[in-house]
Amino acid sequence: MNYLLGVDLGTSGTKTVLFDEDGNVIASKTIEYPLYQEKNGWAEQRPEDWWDAVVTGVPELLRGFDANDVAGIGSGGQMHGLVVLDENDNVIRPAILWNDSRSSLETEYLNNIIGKKTLQQNTGNIAFPGFTAPKILWLKNNEPENFQKAEKIMLPKDYLAYRLSGVVATDCSDAAGTLYFDTKNRRWSGTMLSVLGVGEKNLPKVYESYQAVGTLKKSAADELGLNENVKIVIGAGDNAASAVGTDTIESGDCNISLGTSGTIFVASDEFNYAPNGAIHTFCSATGEYHYLACILSAASCQKWWIEGITKSSYDGGFTEYIGKSQVMFLPYLMGERSPINDSSIRGAFFGLSLNTTKDEMTLAVLEGVAFAIKQNLDIIRDLGIHIETSKICGGGTRNKEWVKIIASVLNIELLLPEVEHGAVLGAALLGARACLPDDGYERLKSSVKSSYTRILPNEKLVKYYSEKYSKWSELYPKIKE
Ligand code: XUL
Repeated sequence: MNYLLGVDLGTSGTKTVLFDEDGNVIASKTIEYPLYQEKNGWAEQRPEDWWDAVVTGVPELLRGFDANDVAGIGSGGQMHGLVVLDENDNVIRPAILWNDSRSSLETEYLNNIIGKKTLQQNTGNIAFPGFTAPKILWLKNNEPENFQKAEKIMLPKDYLAYRLSGVVATDCSDAAGTLYFDTKNRRWSGTMLSVLGVGEKNLPKVYESYQAVGTLKKSAADELGLNENVKIVIGAGDNAASAVGTDTIESGDCNISLGTSGTIFVASDEFNYAPNGAIHTFCSATGEYHYLACILSAASCQKWWIEGITKSSYDGGFTEYIGKSQVMFLPYLMGERSPINDSSIRGAFFGLSLNTTKDEMTLAVLEGVAFAIKQNLDIIRDLGIHIETSKICGGGTRNKEWVKIIASVLNIELLLPEVEHGAVLGAALLGARACLPDDGYERLKSSVKSSYTRILPNEKLVKYYSEKYSKWSELYPKIKE
């Protein structure tokens, strides 16, 4: 039997999982690392920490196992992060991450001076501070010496592929999140590279997510305890990898992720973009496209409120207020990406009275995130995509009452997987496609269709939430200034 290693380079840690061809998890290890927030709105990590997590995790997975049976490694990773290496391959500065909002001025420059129309025509997207292009401009404007030294510019999971194989490579799904990639035609955008003053020679070669870029280089093989024949498959951005891991592949399939950030992923055969650029158009990991909306604070709102502020527990006390409360919450704890693209806005509660309880405010927090998801889903629906059902995954789904609220707010059926491996299984599957014989790949692929619990909307609540959502959606435009 052949085995595959899946790697998910996340924001809180890197998860490495060894799968067999039947999709069984042989061993799994997550290694956490710090997120550095030196200034308000900044979010950085050390790329060396990501590599250390792989080098520490993989040998542990292989303990008591014949490493010669591992056929390949596939990766999924946090998107958009700016990783810069100098001519000696040293990391020049910490990586600037997807949830860092320092580049708001550069974002404004791109959207207003270069112009949203030009950006959309060349890349399929407009600028958001989370994207890589405004970060490059920030580097140029604020750390010109580092910009000058930047010989290789890459994304987080591409740094791992480089350390593993020595090949500077990326894939279309992750490249699409840079804003210097021509998403429609799946190649770097010459126009955008001129805007940034970056040469194509400084960028990775672009592959499809399921392609092998090479094999393990000797030094990496020695460090990991693997042999040099192991193929390195480039993999995908975490959302595109999750889509493979949750079988969100057919045009119109939808997957909602309730992680630190919340994402709404809708697969599409056609390339198209939302008129105002409020949601993203990226390449999928299977050769097509997808729409992606990203709300910057989702499960992190729950964590902030329950653990950080009220120091209480995740009990269901809030459910007694469902259908009765008028308290509302805007979940903009880190500013917001989709659809409002406002990095300076922050969260707020509305409608508090002397009778308001902690549990009622908990409910408002959960509903606020659900409303933010609805706002984005409605924009995707306005593109003519019919969505009646969606998968839902991520740490936030451990709160089942929250998932029920989301089903009623969105008025769609939600499918909650019984076993969830999302991005890391997707990464292994992308690896399998390049490394295993057809029958091995098909066996692993069929294991993705795990069983789901169906969560249906509650009809009475659908009407109540539709009215409450109308009021909620008026809040941001009123407080914006
Ligand atoms: C997507 C995005 C996030 C990160 C987090 O655009 O920014 O989902 O990929 O991992």
